[in-house]
Amino acid sequence: MRIATRRRFLQGAAGLAGAAAAGFPQIWIKNADLAQAADGQIKVGVLYSLTGTTAIIETSLNQATLMAIEEINAAGGVNGRKIVPVVEDPASDPATFAEKARKLVIGEKCVSVFGSYTSASRKAVLPVFERYHNLYWYPTLYEGRECSMNVIYTGAVPNQQQRDFIPWLVKNFGKRFYLIGSNYIYPKEENNVCKILLQRLGGEVVGEEYVPLGHSEFSSVIEKFKNTKPNVIFSTVVGDSVVALHRQYKAAGLDPAKMPMASLTTSEEEVRAMGGEFAAGHFTSAPYFMSYESPENAKFVDAFKRKYGKDAVTNFVSEPAYFQVYLFAQAAAKLSGSDLTPPNIRKAAWGQEFKAPEGLVKIDPQNSHTYLWPKIGQAQSNGQFKIIEQSKEWVEPDPYWAYPGQVCTPNGMVEKKA
Ligand code: ACM
Repeated sequence: MRIATRRRFLQGAAGLAGAAAAGFPQIWIKNADLAQAADGQIKVGVLYSLTGTTAIIETSLNQATLMAIEEINAAGGVNGRKIVPVVEDPASDPATFAEKARKLVIGEKCVSVFGSYTSASRKAVLPVFERYHNLYWYPTLYEGRECSMNVIYTGAVPNQQQRDFIPWLVKNFGKRFYLIGSNYIYPKEENNVCKILLQRLGGEVVGEEYVPLGHSEFSSVIEKFKNTKPNVIFSTVVGDSVVALHRQYKAAGLDPAKMPMASLTTSEEEVRAMGGEFAAGHFTSAPYFMSYESPENAKFVDAFKRKYGKDAVTNFVSEPAYFQVYLFAQAAAKLSGSDLTPPNIRKAAWGQEFKAPEGLVKIDPQNSHTYLWPKIGQAQSNGQFKIIEQSKEWVEPDPYWAYPGQVCTPNGMVEKKA
């Protein structure tokens, strides 16, 4: 990767004129609060929960982000400038996310912030990034149906996670699904997409249930699984609850060969916390698994273990948390001096490609989401996923895929009449 290339210093006024010539709306470049990189360093925020119910997964996002920053700095930085992370712990609480985002954007004047696992926390920080024309790099799989000018989305959207997964589940296990999720926007929207797909395939939803974040008592839910006898339990439960659900499923004597859980949110991280024997036989759809064989992934896994210990695991959220820092650095390398502002970084990020552990990825210049490589994995008792299906090509991100007529463009979402 080539990041440290050339130095070019522009005076502030010339930099702003350059941004204007590049076609950014005046309001973006006139705003007195617009963050710019200080000489010799590029300050970025790192906003992942290190405490609370989603720390189980978000800690790995913090770690992957810091590892990428360290690697880039060790290789010379961005045109000689070091990336300086400012780390905050928003404690799995959306209101605290918003408060810390304000601190990073207004107080610290970071030129970008890497952050969030839950969609609830992303929605909570959005007004901050929009008000201050800053840029949020979001690595997590999510429900789509969003098109913010102030976010670069590097996780999977439903057409990269559900499009092939639901037909595969119906073909292999049957058409009767039970939908179980945590109670917030992401599981509900993701289940709406699942229902649209099931309807097309002649499937049936035999139950739908949402449990509070952090929920750990699944006996009544498991009773409903037993009574309704679905072919597939489609799970969008997140955080610590994933561990409780899997353990109680097994304790109840249910059999993944007959009634598997099919998840969009169960990764190596949750499997490590619950113990591989509780996950074995269940399925997850994601663009990345730790077991994926590529030279880039071998290097990523090796570096992660060397830094965080031999038992550390990588997962389908920590991988984009890692590669998005490289995409950020590549974009930042195209800018210098006072040109290094969030709106300019966003524009420079469009079309950037990077050989990630999962394969070559690219930021779509139309919708600021990312081309990814969907896969289906089956959890094994050793805590790893066996990859049983994988896309032969990268899949273009389509955040409004389930909602024809709505299109995400560089200027936001537009409605297209049929
Ligand atoms: C999520 O809330 N996007 C997992």
